[in-house]
Amino acid sequence: MRSLIVTLDGPAGSGKSTVARLLARRLDLEFLDTGAMYRGLTALCLDHGVDPGGEPKPIVALAEAHPLRFDWSQNPPRLYAGDLDITGRLRDEDVTENVSALASLTPVRQVLVRTQQEIGQEHVGLVTEGRDQGSVVFPKAQVKFYLDAQPHVRAKRRAQQLRDAGKPADEKKILEKIMARDERDSTRTHGPLICPDDAERIDTTDMSLEEVVDLLERKVNERVDMGDASRAGQEASS
Ligand code: DC
Repeated sequence: MRSLIVTLDGPAGSGKSTVARLLARRLDLEFLDTGAMYRGLTALCLDHGVDPGGEPKPIVALAEAHPLRFDWSQNPPRLYAGDLDITGRLRDEDVTENVSALASLTPVRQVLVRTQQEIGQEHVGLVTEGRDQGSVVFPKAQVKFYLDAQPHVRAKRRAQQLRDAGKPADEKKILEKIMARDERDSTRTHGPLICPDDAERIDTTDMSLEEVVDLLERKVNERVDMGDASRAGQEASS
């Protein structure tokens, strides 16, 4: 596997998770879904009677007592908290409603950022997606993207995702919640949702999933080829 980190940041419903998973497969890299980690810790709090938006200390203690880890032998990888497989819990409504509050707590972010950086050291070929991957977690990543789309399209995609999982979906409510979550994720002090200066912004509003994945695959390969060529040039001239 090549040593390459590709970051994909962007707001809820921009298609990041699906795109990142498919892109990772095409490029023969592994896929890190960092939203799943915030969701997993939120589920853990709710299931242990800890307020996910409250005092950070008990939340950090829970994260330490039940470390989050992915089973990379599965595709997509499954998420465990300690020995418990919590993958099925990640998209539940109570988790979605509370995750943004937990993600705004600085000590909690510090724990998860550290875990993500450790994963990056162990898995050198990675497509990683979230809100702060290019800005905070992997600032030296070779290729960075920021995926965006009009809010109504993002709500539509999220609704479809829920229906595909056999869950009910009210698009209007989803749109309201997406906008509220964007606002909270963009205005928090630590690791807010931003487009890093060195990331390429891709508006996927009018693009199909296939078109987005094709485009990103092409761009990553161009960038990697350019990097190889410039390194070869430097070596030849030194
Ligand atoms: O991408 P998602 O919907 O699964 O993310 C769930 C929440 O976690 C979202 O409200 C933002 C937060 N999050 C974050 O703050 N930082 C990340 N790297 C990933 C997700």
